[in-house]
Amino acid sequence: MKVLVIGSGGREHTLCWKIAQSSAVDEVFCAPGNGGIAGDAICIDIAGDDIPSLIRFVRDNGIDLSVVGPEAPLVGGIVDAFTSEKLAVFGPDSRAAALEGSKIFAKTAMHDCAIPTARFETFTDADKAVSFIRGADFPIVVKADGLAAGKGVIVTSSRDEAIQAAQDIMVKREFGNAGSSVVLEEKLVGEEASFIAICDGEHIVPLASSQDHKPAYDNDQGPNTGGMGAYSPAPVLDENTYAHVLDTILYPLVHGLRKQGITYRGVIYAGLMITDDGPKVLEFNVRMGDPETQPLLMRLKSDIVPILTEVANGGSIKNMKLEWEAGPSVCVVLASGGYPGTYEKGKIITGIDAANAIEGIKVFHAGTRLQGKSLVTSGGRVLGVTALGDDLKTTIEKAYRAASMISFEKMYFRKDIGHKALERLS
Ligand code: AMP
Ligand code: GLY
Repeated sequence: MKVLVIGSGGREHTLCWKIAQSSAVDEVFCAPGNGGIAGDAICIDIAGDDIPSLIRFVRDNGIDLSVVGPEAPLVGGIVDAFTSEKLAVFGPDSRAAALEGSKIFAKTAMHDCAIPTARFETFTDADKAVSFIRGADFPIVVKADGLAAGKGVIVTSSRDEAIQAAQDIMVKREFGNAGSSVVLEEKLVGEEASFIAICDGEHIVPLASSQDHKPAYDNDQGPNTGGMGAYSPAPVLDENTYAHVLDTILYPLVHGLRKQGITYRGVIYAGLMITDDGPKVLEFNVRMGDPETQPLLMRLKSDIVPILTEVANGGSIKNMKLEWEAGPSVCVVLASGGYPGTYEKGKIITGIDAANAIEGIKVFHAGTRLQGKSLVTSGGRVLGVTALGDDLKTTIEKAYRAASMISFEKMYFRKDIGHKALERLS
């Protein structure tokens, strides 16, 4: 069969790499892909949100399955468009994808389904939001309602900062129309974890647990990024907590949505805070995490294509299971100096082949492109150096040994990926 992956980041490189290993798959295409994906799939020059061109490509080339990586095309209705053309596509439709597209929709769904989450209020009027902040007796997180490329959430530490954030979003429209409404919610305290699962509208097959590292610098300092590294499994999600999340969060959500006439087919990702009162949802995403996908799929022993195909074709995954390597996987993201703010592009990258030659290492590309014969940087998060090993300590060491072989001008990375898990295990 022929498979098309839509997107251009580290998550999509990992998906292409994993899908290409399936015995059912003859060819993998990626639109638009990146400099490294070209080694695992045939890259085609169509933007991930150019739905009419993607549909034409799928028809003309007899693609059997399309897998959508990022949230923007999902929220924009790519699955609805493919489905109405009777093309098999993996991902939630736009009504379901509103779980990520609108934080107000997501919080309302959590409230309606009695899912544990932070206390919240929603506002469309900036003055009312400000007076709520003045009266609040808890630290506040300000969230733009709509998609803001992962930047629309401001965790504040004072009332003044919260007021400023609400005004920046609602009045200055820092994130455009995504900020015409906001959610103001209670700041939760605890350790974060990612719970990612595949859903057929009724049944759920959870992936292994994982944890992301959002802040740019060591010890969780600095601005939030898309994720500077990840590992799987996440010891903070022990077996009991994992089962508890399925029972109190994911099943109530999927069954609650079904009652509203929304059939959730695709990946559901709960961003969790493990608090003293148990796991609570920070947000839902409607796609795989990036960079969580990198360590997760490194650990996945099963072929991923049968489950993706079943969900895309509206079938049941009730009897499906995914098998995982017992050992951990760790991904260290190599980023461009300045990211998540402004950064330069076009820096020549060296050392990837040497890193890939280490047993149990795979370097996934995110912001790279080919310039003639050279591979150069083209984004903030450039590479995800991913290690699979037997125990966490040596796997972390292996990931950093591989990372140290790679260089490009102004490259930086966190030096403490996986350390929270190491402390928890020690
Ligand atoms: P989100 O896009 O909603 O996941 O938010 C991005 C990041 O902001 C999360 O990964 C958390 O680190 C942080 N965050 C979001 N909501 C809260 C909250 N209620 N309490 C504490 N931190 C939060
Ligand atoms: N790593 C966080 C995300 O994918 O949203």
